[in-house]
Amino acid sequence: LRRSQIIGCGAYLPARVVTNAELATRVDTSDEWIVERSGIHQRHIAAEGELTSDLAIAAARAAIAHAGIDPDEIDLIVLATATPDRTFPATATRVQAALGLTRGFAFDVQAVCSGFLYALTVADNFIRAGQVKTALVIGAETFSRILDWTDRTTCVLFGDGAGAVLLRAGDGEGNTADRGILSTHLHSDGRHSDLLYVDGGASSSSLVGHVRMEGREVFRHAVVNLASVVQEALVANNLTAADIDWVVPHQANRRIIEGTARKLGFPMERMVMTVGEHANTSAASVPLALAQAVGDGRIRPGQLVLLEAMGGGFTWGSALVRM
Ligand code: ACO
Repeated sequence: LRRSQIIGCGAYLPARVVTNAELATRVDTSDEWIVERSGIHQRHIAAEGELTSDLAIAAARAAIAHAGIDPDEIDLIVLATATPDRTFPATATRVQAALGLTRGFAFDVQAVCSGFLYALTVADNFIRAGQVKTALVIGAETFSRILDWTDRTTCVLFGDGAGAVLLRAGDGEGNTADRGILSTHLHSDGRHSDLLYVDGGASSSSLVGHVRMEGREVFRHAVVNLASVVQEALVANNLTAADIDWVVPHQANRRIIEGTARKLGFPMERMVMTVGEHANTSAASVPLALAQAVGDGRIRPGQLVLLEAMGGGFTWGSALVRM
């Protein structure tokens, strides 16, 4: 059985850190309110002229170094972003050029905060199908560019960053003890597209729009959908919550992560949390959190890790991985 193994992880965060206290000088908010409602203490914000592709390239280079491979071995680049450098071409092709690659193929995937789970699933399917041997999967965002910095209900929640993983085809017996991506599950429900969106785009307006969100409604759907897609992964693999070593959730909000953990019976000690330092980096949040937990030795080879995310659309998904 051909399965995709994670052979390297990398991350990149812009240098500039913006604290809640700094935001409180721009909009009517407070460190206390932001921490209590979201668990966010700070976020990284890209410098002027620093684009999504720059973040993506830095994370990709870190993942390549971690895996110890030659970039020429990469057959496929899938980049998840809702904040591409340009409407076209795909930001993934800029990463391809920066890495000096002229063979293989590169394209973007757009599923907002679930983007990395979608990109990972696409790459995993190319590997399982035998069409690709080595794939670079990136989540990269500069959400700071699409925030309304006068809207306190949204601007305090997001940040910029990028994370990347390298996947390689591996052969195994096909049981859950073998390394690699064991299963992926994706969902979307377009009836809820008005609860979280950007009010602008190439087809509807010449202006770059801003993030608009019905926070309470999003929160309610997030906990229900995330719990259900995690449950789906457990059932599909004949596992229970006790079998999972780590959950790497999308980092939107500490209360969403706590609510999901409670619903599923996961102790908070097994939930990787970076939302306090990174805020919500959309498609970048899961690979950023994964790279951090692998880098500091929490996530170790052989462990079972469940990735999950939910975002605008709505879209949501999970991936179960034996590291
Ligand atoms: N500072 C101070 N007060 C604020 C702020 C702020 N930054 N933002 C809103 N308020 C005020 C509101 O105006 C409101 O005041 P009012 O009662 O006088 O009208 C009050 O705080 C309560 O507002 P609510 O929106 O009801 O607060 P809630 O407890 O729902 O928390 C939050 C808001 C944090 C946005 C929450 O709904 C949430 O986390 N939603 C999920 C959103 C999310 O994470 N989206 C990310 C994309 S989707 C995803 O990734 C899952």
